[in-house]
Amino acid sequence: EAAEKGGYEHFMIKEIYEQPKAIRETMSGRLAKDDSSIIFDELKWTKDDLANINKIFIIACGTAYHAGIVGKYYLEQLARVPVEVDIASEFRYRSPLVDENTLTLVISQSGETSDTLAALKEAKRLGARTIAITNVVGSSIAREADQVIYTWAGPEIAVASTKAYTTQLVSVCMFAIYIAGMRGTLPVETIKTLIRGLRELPAQAHELLEDVEPIKTFAQQYGFAEDVFFIGRSLDYAVALEGALKLKEISYIHAEAYAAGELKHGTLALIVDGVPVIALATQHDVYEKTLSNIKEVKARDAVVIGIGLKGDKQLVKYVDHTIYIPATEKYLTPILTVIPLQLLAYYAAVTRGCDVDKPRNLAKSVTVE
Ligand code: G6P
Repeated sequence: EAAEKGGYEHFMIKEIYEQPKAIRETMSGRLAKDDSSIIFDELKWTKDDLANINKIFIIACGTAYHAGIVGKYYLEQLARVPVEVDIASEFRYRSPLVDENTLTLVISQSGETSDTLAALKEAKRLGARTIAITNVVGSSIAREADQVIYTWAGPEIAVASTKAYTTQLVSVCMFAIYIAGMRGTLPVETIKTLIRGLRELPAQAHELLEDVEPIKTFAQQYGFAEDVFFIGRSLDYAVALEGALKLKEISYIHAEAYAAGELKHGTLALIVDGVPVIALATQHDVYEKTLSNIKEVKARDAVVIGIGLKGDKQLVKYVDHTIYIPATEKYLTPILTVIPLQLLAYYAAVTRGCDVDKPRNLAKSVTVE
């Protein structure tokens, strides 16, 4: 097992560090040389096949569900199709409004999660076209779906998903650009900008992984906190959900993510002196609003780590610690922002002496309902 860890102490940290490579492999051969389109040779749908699609369901569990929440932003904003995201175990039991004009996208690292598989079967039974984003070739979900996009992240061993999530985001982003291309909802210049942004991600992820000391120190300092809150708006909120899940899963710290604008509708009551708050502030269009939420928690003496884009000069004035991610397209920020959150969870779990790769009560693949 030590050999398989390749010199790393745990699979999780090895997999976190594999992200630049995993992201690169997921994109390999799929970005047109002139950056004007996404190439999915594996997809056999024609423009006509998708012409009547008027709704997309994204269905998944756990971390893959969080990738689906980001996917909703991508598909709605880039391809202009209404999207519902559902937890697989909920979708199955609520008579979903699915028909032959619905495209169902299931996301699953293992391709074996039984609720996700059952939801996929249900969507098919109702007549939907189906597609899976999965990491495991020939898995049950890959075999059941009409079409498959593989994430090519390589085997993920640690129970807490890391490189599977970032490659799911890359895949769903490419899929949204692909659908946008088919539907003609994006100017070619925008597609080119996004694809150029995608190309930069592996190097940017690598850059983020070069200096982990500030996160490690913070994790050591606050690793024994009882509660940690994650806040953000828009895509930052989607990433906050994943950051909170990572921390819960492996460090057993109670962690919650809130849409920053919702704070004052309840959670603010829990923010007291010394409570750590991780505030994500990478989205330009809601930046000022997020800053005012940060001020709200600071006014209650929370300890705030702000995560912002490189070049942001304001954030540092309102928070206790800052982490900067390389500047990228707003749609691509989640793929980078999640990395410091994965590291935070990892180092908090190590500080607390937890079994990082095999957290209590959890399984890598849930094949029971
Ligand atoms: C389990 C794992 C999670 C994972 C979820 C969905 O709960 O512990 O890390 O996100 O299943 O798994 P899947 O293989 O369908 O992505």
